Amino acid sequence: MLGLKLPTDPRWVNIVEKNIEEILTDHAFCEQKATSTAISLIVSFPEYTELVQEMTALVKEEISHFKMVHDKIIERGWTLGRDRRDDYVVELMKFFPKGGSRTNQLVHRLLYAALIEARSCERFRLLSEELKDKELADFYRNLMVSEANHYTMFLGFARKYGNKKEVDTKWQQLLEYESEIMANLGKKETIHG
Ligand SMILES: [Fe+2]
Ligand SMILES: [Fe+2]
Repeated sequence: MLGLKLPTDPRWVNIVEKNIEEILTDHAFCEQKATSTAISLIVSFPEYTELVQEMTALVKEEISHFKMVHDKIIERGWTLGRDRRDDYVVELMKFFPKGGSRTNQLVHRLLYAALIEARSCERFRLLSEELKDKELADFYRNLMVSEANHYTMFLGFARKYGNKKEVDTKWQQLLEYESEIMANLGKKETIHG
C-alpha cells in the first residue's frame, strides 16, 4: 500500500489507545503543519500556477482537518496541548542535500510531502482498523481517504515538474531511507512516532 517499504507494527495502536489525548494533540499539529507546508510552497514557488491553485485548495482542506481534530479534543473535555517535535520528519528531511537548482529543491519538497502524507495515511488506516473506540476509528477512516489523495497529488507534481525518471529514482531511494527510520519507530503515541 502507498509504496511504503515497511508497514507499521499494529502494536503501535495499543500504545496509542492508552493515551488518546496525546495522539489527538499530536495529530492536530500534523494538520497545522500540512497547512503551513502548503502555504510555504505557494510562497517559495509562486510561478507554478497549477501548484499554487492546488495548494490553495489544500490549505483550506488541511485547516478544516485541524478543526475536526480540535473539535474532537474539545468534545472529550480536553484542551489542545503544545506542539511536539516530530522526530520522524526531522530525520526524514536530512535525506536530500540542501541547495541545488530551484527545480530540484521543489522536487525534494514535493517528495517529502508525498511521503509524509503516505505514512500518515497508513497510520490512519491502522487506527481505523484497530482502535476499539469505534467513534474514533470512523473518524480516522474518513481522514485516511483524503490523505491518500494528497500523497498521489504531491507525487504527481514532482513527476510533472521534475525529470520523471530522476524523480522515480529519488522516490525509491527516499522510500528505502524512510523504512530505515521507521524500523526504530512505532513506540510512541504520536502520528509518526
Ligand atoms: Fe490532513
Ligand atoms: Fe494531507
